Amino acid sequence: MQDKLILAYSGGLDTSVMVPWIRERYGYDIVTFTVDLGQGDDLEKIRKKALTTGASDAVVVNATNMFVDHFVFPALMAGAVYESKYPLATALGRPLIAKLMVDTARKYGAKAVAHGCTGKGNDQVRFDVTFQTLAPDLKIVAPVREWNMSRPEALAYAAKHNIHVEATVESPFSIDQNIWGRSCEAGILEDPWIEPPAEAFAWTTDPALAPNEPEYIEIEFAHGIPIALNGVKTDGAPLIDKLNRLAGKHGIGRIDHVENRLVGIKSRELYEAPAGVVLHEAHRELETICLSKQAVRFKTLVAQEYADLIYNGLWFSAFHQDLFSFIASNQRFVSGHVRVKLFKGKATVVGRKSEHSLYSHNLATYDKGSDYDQDAAQGFIKIHGLGQQTQARQQLLKGGAGFNLPGLPSTRSE
Ligand code: ARG
Repeated sequence: MQDKLILAYSGGLDTSVMVPWIRERYGYDIVTFTVDLGQGDDLEKIRKKALTTGASDAVVVNATNMFVDHFVFPALMAGAVYESKYPLATALGRPLIAKLMVDTARKYGAKAVAHGCTGKGNDQVRFDVTFQTLAPDLKIVAPVREWNMSRPEALAYAAKHNIHVEATVESPFSIDQNIWGRSCEAGILEDPWIEPPAEAFAWTTDPALAPNEPEYIEIEFAHGIPIALNGVKTDGAPLIDKLNRLAGKHGIGRIDHVENRLVGIKSRELYEAPAGVVLHEAHRELETICLSKQAVRFKTLVAQEYADLIYNGLWFSAFHQDLFSFIASNQRFVSGHVRVKLFKGKATVVGRKSEHSLYSHNLATYDKGSDYDQDAAQGFIKIHGLGQQTQARQQLLKGGAGFNLPGLPSTRSE
C-alpha cells in the first residue's frame, strides 16, 4: 500500500496540479485537506474537485469558530498588530491549518504533509515550523518551492492530467483571506510608489464613496473579548462578520503596508480588515479606562512581542503560553462598552464606559467639589523636581552658566 500524504488544498490551479505532481514524483497516495476559516469558500465544490483530480480522499472542515475563539481573540486581547499596521489574519490562520492537517495525518496514518507556499514568503515558515513542532516525524513536501512551473506550464500540466481549470479571469494579485482579513499582494502593488487600484479592494468601499452620514455602533467587551454588538449578544464569528460588512461599507479597514518579512524581504501588502481595525481601536480605548498606567505601558511591549511571534510562525511555543498568561491576567478587568463612529474610512471611538473604570470624574473635574487635594500637589511637585533642581544647582547652572539646548536662547541663572 502506498504511503499517504495530506495536502493543504484550496481548489485553485496550483494545489490541483499538486495532486498528480506529488503522486508522480514521490509516489504518495494523496488526501486533500481544505479548511474554511470564514473566507466563505464552497467546501462541497472543493471536495468534489479534489476527488476528480485524483485524490483518494478529500477532507473539508469548517474551523471558523475555533479560529476566532482560539487564535483571533487572543491576538485581539494582546493588541497584536504587526509593525503597528497588520492585524495578522493570514499569519493567525496558518498555525491552525497546520495543526488540523497534523490531526488529519494522524487519523489517516499519513507519512507526509504538503502545502503550496512559495519559498519567498512567511507562510512556508508558519506551516513548516508548526509541522516540525507538532509532528517532527512527518515529511514535508512543498512543490512550489521546487517545481519552477510558470502559470502556462501549470495549465498545460493540468490539461495533460484532465484537471478542469475554471475559466475565471486570473486575478493580477495574490490573495489570501479569512474572517479576520484579506491580503492582496504582487502585480502592480510591487511598486510601493503606485497607489493601489480600485480592483485591489474587495471588502471595503472607497472612503470617498462611503455613506455621507456617520453610523454609530456600540461594542461590549468582557475580559478583552467582544461579546455584543449594538446591545445584542453575539458569538465571535458572526460578530466579526457583521462588523466586516458594517465597517467595510464605510470604507474602514484599508491598510497599505510595506512590511518586513521574516525571510528578509520588504514587501508591499494591501490589507482589508474592517472588523479587525474597529475591534483593535475599540479594545485599545476600553483599556485606557480599565488598565493602570503601568499596565498599559508594559502591555505595549508584550503586544509587540506577541505580534512578532504570530508573524514569525512561533504560535506553538512555550513563550506564547507565557505571554498569554500575562495577557489573560492583564485583561481580567477589561470589560465594558465602547461607542464607535464609522464615517468615511475612519473608525473613531467617541465613548467608553466600564464598571471597572479607573477614570474618576470626581478627581478629574475642574468643577467645584472635587476630592482632589490641590495642596498636596505642591508637596508632590517639590519632591518630584528635587533631583533636577539639585543637578541644575550643582552642575548645569553652576557659577552663572546658562542652560543650553541647541538653538534655544539660554536662561541665565541670575
Ligand atoms: N504578508 C502577509 C503575511 O505574511 C500575508 C501573506 C498572504 N499570503 C498569501 N499566500 N498571499 O502574513
